[in-house]
Amino acid sequence: MKITQDEAIDLLNQDKVVALPTETVYGLASKLSSERGIKKIFSLKNRPLDNPLIIHLSSKKDLQTYLLNKEKNTLFDLIEHFWPGPLTVVVEVNTDKIPDIARAHLKTAAFRIPKSEETLDIITQVGPLVMPSANLSGKPSATRIDHVLRDFGEDFPVLDGGITEKGLESTVIVQIGERWKIARRGAITEQDLKKVLGYKPETHNSKEQVLSPGTKYKHYAPKAQLIPLNQNQDFSLKTVIGFSNRNYPHADKIYSIGSSLNPKEISQKLYHVLRQLDVDGVEKAYVDFDIPKENLYKTILERLERASK
Ligand code: TXA
Ligand code: MG
Repeated sequence: MKITQDEAIDLLNQDKVVALPTETVYGLASKLSSERGIKKIFSLKNRPLDNPLIIHLSSKKDLQTYLLNKEKNTLFDLIEHFWPGPLTVVVEVNTDKIPDIARAHLKTAAFRIPKSEETLDIITQVGPLVMPSANLSGKPSATRIDHVLRDFGEDFPVLDGGITEKGLESTVIVQIGERWKIARRGAITEQDLKKVLGYKPETHNSKEQVLSPGTKYKHYAPKAQLIPLNQNQDFSLKTVIGFSNRNYPHADKIYSIGSSLNPKEISQKLYHVLRQLDVDGVEKAYVDFDIPKENLYKTILERLERASK
């Protein structure tokens, strides 16, 4: 059910959960100060309780309230450059200020300022919000209002923000010693981060300790089995997830995720196509993985690989 900005504010102030647009994906929002709302988010999503939520702020100075270490460091350079925007920073916090359930009892918490005007305005009025992506756990994130309604029902309150601009979640980074590491790849690439940090942060490798609890769970997956496309494969009735600038002569049905030359377009379409497979009842699809392994393409490939598992 579409709601207005004022209705969203009223519902949040009554400890209710609503879905809001951001520039990355839609989020399932509750006030940070509402334990009831936060519990509701976990149950609605069927989300494991050990997977902490991102706190969404409306002003950079609000971050100060929560920080354990307020010394000037690269954290402030990063947020100065990337906020509002799709960068989430994980930092040590004063745990008294954040409900245990929101940070899954960790000593750290994740923060970002989203870019969507309407949502920022809501945060300014009701205070910080926790917002995981507005999808059932394990499903691709929601990039359109109908994705949210499909997962949570037609009556679920959603503020319509159209198709989200980025289409991929924020990049989550964690500081380890002096250096930052990428805990979850996302809309901001390591090249973007290098402009501020002077080095390309490493991406956390899952064989080490888990940096971002969410990444250990199955994610972004449609029901369909996804198989790497190999041009030598010869079969009939082939459903292909591919690019608008390429030909797939054996394909019966093509789901286009945009031009292979335009990673921003692919990012924006990816989850919609993965979700469309479920809507259409597709059981098996072949995926064209032949794109460069760099920049935003790397995030896209990682999401496709996870969806194929
Ligand atoms: O773009 C986004 O980030 C969207 C929009 C709505 O803002 N939100 C989102 O939230 O993707 P969610 O809950 O789906 O993913 C949050 C990720 C998870 O992988 C979680 O484990 C990680 O952030 N995270 C949250 N708090 C953390 C912490 N204290 N330490 C490490 N990772 C943390
Ligand atoms: Mg998520």
